[in-house]
Amino acid sequence: ASTRPDLGDIKTLEQFILEQQDRFPHSTGAFSRLLRDISLAAKIVNRDMRKAGLIDIYGSTGETNVQGEVQQKMDALAHREFVLALRRGGECCLIGSEEHAEAIPLDTSSEGDGKYIVLLDPLDGSSNIDVCVSVGTIFSIYRLPDEYDEDEPDLDAALQPGTEQIAAGYVVYGSSTMMVYTTGNGVNGFTLDTSIGEFLLSHPDLTTPKTGRIFSINAGYYHSFEDGLCDYLDWLQEYDENDPNRPAKTRYIGSFVSDFHRNLLKGGIYMYPATQSSPEGKLRLMYEANPMAWIAEQAGGRATDGHTRIMEKSPTKLHQRTPLFIGSEDMVRRAEAFLQGD
Ligand code: AHG
Ligand code: MN
Ligand code: MN
Ligand code: MN
Repeated sequence: ASTRPDLGDIKTLEQFILEQQDRFPHSTGAFSRLLRDISLAAKIVNRDMRKAGLIDIYGSTGETNVQGEVQQKMDALAHREFVLALRRGGECCLIGSEEHAEAIPLDTSSEGDGKYIVLLDPLDGSSNIDVCVSVGTIFSIYRLPDEYDEDEPDLDAALQPGTEQIAAGYVVYGSSTMMVYTTGNGVNGFTLDTSIGEFLLSHPDLTTPKTGRIFSINAGYYHSFEDGLCDYLDWLQEYDENDPNRPAKTRYIGSFVSDFHRNLLKGGIYMYPATQSSPEGKLRLMYEANPMAWIAEQAGGRATDGHTRIMEKSPTKLHQRTPLFIGSEDMVRRAEAFLQGD
């Protein structure tokens, strides 16, 4: 018997978006075209990623980005592919990217409506590229507020709280390539079938377990964590005959997208707390914490900075960082209780 689903069983990302369109408040088709542009860039990055050892994109550009990080060639390539796709599509008027100090206004004279703002981590986990470990892309989409003109969008238009997002998603370039996103009606996952160049619906209505046995944190910084967090980590690793989730298992890839995706499916918590070298944590609010927080919440999980809901934080800078505790609700709540000394 054939193992391939017959044509009746598969649903492409485009078909799914069009189906959702009549449920979407701005069903002008512009949003569908914007997601098409993002998925095109993801396919191009995936193509180049899968042969990174064979073309000259290993290693660094020799530049230091606004984060103070040595920019990897793949960071720059992914940034360029997403900017090009969004510029060609014409639906986006302003991009905020980890790899560019200032927000980038796009000329919207082309056919698009130019009513959307895209915040982007073009390549997440870039320290893993040269060693063949999975990496990702994260995107967060806002509408341009009516008081702004899409021909000269004020850069502040990008600084909206996470609760204003109209879509949030990620691509994980792992053992397979998947796109997972939400528009506020649940979370859906699509797997790239490279033989036909389409993202196909593979994980409809994704939800995350209320609790789990996996915790993801860079334990190397243990001695710079606040006491409550050390108490939580110690508690997690104690044997408890009445708790099947303790001792918990540690899994840390060093790619937020990959750690997040595994924990979303299996249950778990990812933590990037304040440390001595990163007193505000390391992950960026606008294009890492906010989009993943919305996905986590839409899947039944939770995302805070240890005290405040991530999506309610008021941004002041494009690249501001935030401590992040995200994943299964019971695990995040337990971590908060330890942090607050309850
Ligand atoms: P990016 O590659 O986009 O700069 O993000 C890297 C982040 C995140 O993906 C990962 O979980 C974290 O940095 C790892 O940081 P440490 O090496 O300090 O653990
Ligand atoms: Mn980086
Ligand atoms: Mn990142
Ligand atoms: Mn990045």
